[in-house]
Amino acid sequence: MHFQLTEEHLAVQDAAREFANTELLPGVIQRDSEAKFPKEQVQKMGELGFMGMMVKPKYNGGGMDTISYVLAMEELSKIDASASVCMSVNNSLVCWGLEKYGSEAQKEKYLKPLASGEVLGAFCLSEPEAGSDATSQQTSAELIGDHYILNGTKNWITNGSSASIYLVIAQTDASKGHKGISVFIVEGGGEGFVVGKKEDKLGIRGSDTHSLMFTDVKVPIENRIGEEGFGFTFAMETLNGGRIGIAAQALGIAGGAYELALAYSKERKAFGKPISQHQAIQFKLADMATSIEAARLLVYKAAWLKDQGEDYSHASAMAKLYASQVAMDVTIEAIQVHGGYGYVKEYHVERLMRDAKITQIYEGTSEIQKIVISRGILK
Ligand code: CAA
Repeated sequence: MHFQLTEEHLAVQDAAREFANTELLPGVIQRDSEAKFPKEQVQKMGELGFMGMMVKPKYNGGGMDTISYVLAMEELSKIDASASVCMSVNNSLVCWGLEKYGSEAQKEKYLKPLASGEVLGAFCLSEPEAGSDATSQQTSAELIGDHYILNGTKNWITNGSSASIYLVIAQTDASKGHKGISVFIVEGGGEGFVVGKKEDKLGIRGSDTHSLMFTDVKVPIENRIGEEGFGFTFAMETLNGGRIGIAAQALGIAGGAYELALAYSKERKAFGKPISQHQAIQFKLADMATSIEAARLLVYKAAWLKDQGEDYSHASAMAKLYASQVAMDVTIEAIQVHGGYGYVKEYHVERLMRDAKITQIYEGTSEIQKIVISRGILK
């Protein structure tokens, strides 16, 4: 066992940190206030190779390991979680499944532009009545000739209006329950495909979250991924990896808040000395640093298991469950360290706290992670 990052890992971490500080930090408060999607920034992330980091180079990806991806997610999330969720969805929820289960033709047509960041992808599982209970899919896809006809509504879709390639989970045979669920690649902008209004959210306000409505949308049969009935397994396997990305996001949010609190505590004076010299603040910093380190070990371990080709479903659920709690705890304490300044936008920590909350909800709530973990323990 060794805990050292390689030269390559350190280079990725440095590049991501540099990008976050020079390209994401300027304007992050304004984008949050105006709920503005970081369009130019995401485009640059594509140019720098952040949108398809683990995809093989022959499909325009970076050919990197999951640890590299986690390190980049962590650094970007310290500054702008609205940009990093866009990256997480594109890498883990869209590119990963396409590369693993897509046909060669699907990879040529869809994976290549997604991995290079030329276009964005979205993953469409949640519905108005199917969030945690993901097997209750109401969206239907009926095969008529050489096309499926897609009908239904998807909710809370990240990259909802910015994406041009959507992976859509739908029922092809309701009598078979979750074994009658399939997955399709749907191109944006087609007839019958309507993007609903952008959600006005507590956090990750720049991220582009929409509902999507499908009315008799024609999807060519060759756009089904795998066999009919494979869609639920596809979604679950995809989310196992996605949860590593969100755990890394939570870790980054916590790390960002901690770094701000640490710096502030050395500058701010009270009772004649920097507040970092008061034990009340020192204990907070010690708790923050310790919980972040514990979360980091869980996140890196889940990424490492994935890179080793071992089962990581359990580890990714643990990493997300724990890191998202740490993100909440640390951001709240970071505000406390800042006192009144922490409650105003200029100091960033209130935004990080608002951003942290979603990591306990999307890609499986904390309660769902506990179901996954306890099933793993008891099997
Ligand atoms: N990995 C692989 N397979 C899994 C799995 C996992 N983690 N969890 C369940 N499965 C498989 C089961 O083995 C089972 O397969 P078989 O029938 O072949 O044996 C099948 O899926 C059904 O599982 P269950 O019988 O356990 O179904 P359930 O209804 O009791 O529970 C659940 C399933 C784990 C609760 C699942 O519905 C779930 O994970 N829900 C949360 C969904 C979720 O994470 N949504 C997030 C939306 S995406 C998002 O947020 C994206 C974004 O934009 C940021």
